[in-house]
Amino acid sequence: MKVSILGAGNVGKALAQKFFKQKIPVSFGVRNPDNQKYDSLKSFYGDLVSFRKVHELNADSDFIFLAVPWHSITGVLRELKYKKGQIICDCTNPLTSDLKGLHHSDGLSGGEKVASLLPGANVIKAFNHTGAGNIENPRYEDGTTLMLVAGDNLMSKQKTLSLISKLGFQGVDIGDLSEAKHLENLALFWIHMAYNTSVGPNHSLALLKENITI
Ligand SMILES: NC(=O)c1ccc[n+]([C@@H]2O[C@H](COP(=O)([O-])OP(=O)(O)OC[C@H]3O[C@@H](n4cnc5c(N)ncnc54)[C@H](OP(=O)(O)O)[C@@H]3O)[C@@H](O)[C@H]2O)c1
Repeated sequence: MKVSILGAGNVGKALAQKFFKQKIPVSFGVRNPDNQKYDSLKSFYGDLVSFRKVHELNADSDFIFLAVPWHSITGVLRELKYKKGQIICDCTNPLTSDLKGLHHSDGLSGGEKVASLLPGANVIKAFNHTGAGNIENPRYEDGTTLMLVAGDNLMSKQKTLSLISKLGFQGVDIGDLSEAKHLENLALFWIHMAYNTSVGPNHSLALLKENITI
């Protein structure tokens, strides 16, 4: 399996750590691949990791993760080379600058906006509605972090859910990409719980349901 991640910040690095543990190589798409801040990852993970400009990434990854700030998404996606049917997992949130609202312009969720910028790709919304710390370590004493998935292509969604389970989350399909709005609202709620209540960032959401098949 090959994975590309656009953005090497909190989310990009947390995802990469999960892949490195399974010896899955990761190519990061970043603005400045020679930036010294990437040196420690390069020296620690050697051949498992590479850094390129977004337009230099090979279009042969099984999964491409989007982990850049929302304000950069249009420019970043303009540079991205991808194949028809490629799975592009949108981890971003169209957050307003005060982190209290979402830019859902024209009634479109961020996930749907991303899909409109990537015609022919199979866009899946996931990994956006929990903190980066939970992405790196989804297990709690009382349960496992919930990872909800929205997307239009069933096979791509199944592949993503299988990866999600391999990475240690409880994955659940919530429907078409039009449901991505719920996941982006859930991200707002997670941020509220983490930073405006006594709960704090060391929490995650779990689903309790009788007879659920996951
Ligand atoms: N933080 C969380 O816990 C969390 C959880 C779930 C989802 N999210 C969402 O995930 C996305 C990333 O969040 P984050 O916290 O990982 O952000 P972050 O730590 O600020 O990292 C963003 C990354 O994107 C890169 N980047 C910025 N502009 C770029 C461009 N034009 N081209 C290529 N790379 C660019 C940055 O690279 P430079 O070093 O070059 O600036 C950096 O590596 C956001 O949409 C956020 O809402 C965040």
